[in-house]
Amino acid sequence: MTALGTAAKRRSPAAQVPVAQSREELARERAKLRGPIGLVMTMGALHDGHGSLIREAAKHGSVMVTIFINPLQFGAGEDLDRYPRTLGADLELCARAGASLVFAPTPDVVYPSGPPLVRIDPGPGGEMLEGASRPGHFTGVLTVVHKMLNLTRPDRAYFGEKDFQQLTLIERMVADLDMPVTIVGVPTWRDADGLAMSSRNRYLTPEQRPTALALSEALAAGSEVATQGRGAVLDAAREALAAHPDVKVDRLDLVNPATLDDATSGPARLLVAGILTGQTGPVRLIDNTALTLGMA
Ligand code: PAF
Repeated sequence: MTALGTAAKRRSPAAQVPVAQSREELARERAKLRGPIGLVMTMGALHDGHGSLIREAAKHGSVMVTIFINPLQFGAGEDLDRYPRTLGADLELCARAGASLVFAPTPDVVYPSGPPLVRIDPGPGGEMLEGASRPGHFTGVLTVVHKMLNLTRPDRAYFGEKDFQQLTLIERMVADLDMPVTIVGVPTWRDADGLAMSSRNRYLTPEQRPTALALSEALAAGSEVATQGRGAVLDAAREALAAHPDVKVDRLDLVNPATLDDATSGPARLLVAGILTGQTGPVRLIDNTALTLGMA
């Protein structure tokens, strides 16, 4: 990220939102905010799904948005280097959606002593599901979320349900560590064709979008037969995915939404992860939906 000048200078006419890059600027600009403070944490490359989080937060008071690509949560061979960086457009979206302040630090501001030696252990929930495919990912996520909550001190923090396991682990961290913040989950925002909005969708070519719909189609197929029980849901979802051989299915799980263990009846979450070959390499997309399982 390039230097932007002082926070005041960064109020461009197109994007009427102050931007703090240092901890001092953040403290100074945060002190000007009025009412309850909501936080929306992002890695940038913002889309209207982020817009929906900001708009939801803005109903309750001032909104801070963090834009920070957290190196700690990317594994070797993942897309840290090519992750889209679109700060100008991000600031415009923040302004339009009603953000009051953006905190866009560089890694040395967030981790002034280098990679942190003390990190947040997500417990067993961090090693299952997405964590099994991405070892260490949730340690990196919880560590940066914990730090950002300490730096910004919001009353409420808003996270999308698309990253369902992330949301569950953040709720658990806040409860287990008695952190003074309310976590709010916001439903997944979708494009008109049903594709869950994601910063990684921009790696896809227009021709690949119908293929990417394999994920939402699998969720819909599984939901349709939820009353028939676990086996039927997984079979229906697998069948829908098989209709798109260009998608390599990385994960398909049906879990209890509170414990993330396998669900057998009652409220459940169907989670899917698939890999497509994008314009600049493999694109890993995730999606999920809530359903209520009947007994088989
Ligand atoms: O969901 C994301 O974009 C990231 O995992 C988060 C919560 C901003 C932490 O880096």
